[in-house]
Amino acid sequence: MPTELEAVAAEAAGCTRCRLHQSRTQVVFGQGDPHADLMFVGEAPGFHEDRQGLPFVGPSGQLLNRLLEGIGLRRQDVYVCNVNKSRPPNNRDPLPDEIAACRPWLDAQVRLVDPKVVVTLGNFAAKTLLETTTGITRLRGRTYPFQGRVLLPTFHPAAALHAQGRRTAGPSPLEAMEDDFRVLAELLAAQAPASEASEDRPSEQLGLF
Ligand code: URA
Repeated sequence: MPTELEAVAAEAAGCTRCRLHQSRTQVVFGQGDPHADLMFVGEAPGFHEDRQGLPFVGPSGQLLNRLLEGIGLRRQDVYVCNVNKSRPPNNRDPLPDEIAACRPWLDAQVRLVDPKVVVTLGNFAAKTLLETTTGITRLRGRTYPFQGRVLLPTFHPAAALHAQGRRTAGPSPLEAMEDDFRVLAELLAAQAPASEASEDRPSEQLGLF
């Protein structure tokens, strides 16, 4: 008997709600622990994801895995998906009607996985989920309420990879992401039951809730 999440994934696999079904290889629904406390939401599948049917398996995914390892998490501990489940041609931005058509799949994932913390990767996912026009540079690294959970926006790993080796005025996107993952680790520690939580976590982090 499939779980409800598996049933929704099977239904999504045949989705024709927007034009992207004509150009995609396959739907990239999501991957990971179906009961994860932590969910990552990216933009849309790229070339590698479209081929493999899995989110964040290309260079961006490798950086995501490294950032997770940096805070003691493995990829299989979290759930990873995207705002859009089908690759836009040539990786163009998804269009508003494509986002709207795909939204019920994401809402179902959030409801069924039921994470405590949602991390958005990049401008696009943060703006979509927070329903704001404010850009990621201003949004990142702080928490926002989202459907009864905590949402933490950070940069897209592709932005960090793109900026590698370039000069930046402040911290590089990668350094900013590392900072944001430290905030994430604190958030998760604060969510853990008292017996698991570290005794000495900084009190100011508690204020994030
Ligand atoms: N970029 C995304 O936003 N999502 C993926 O799954 C891969 C690259």
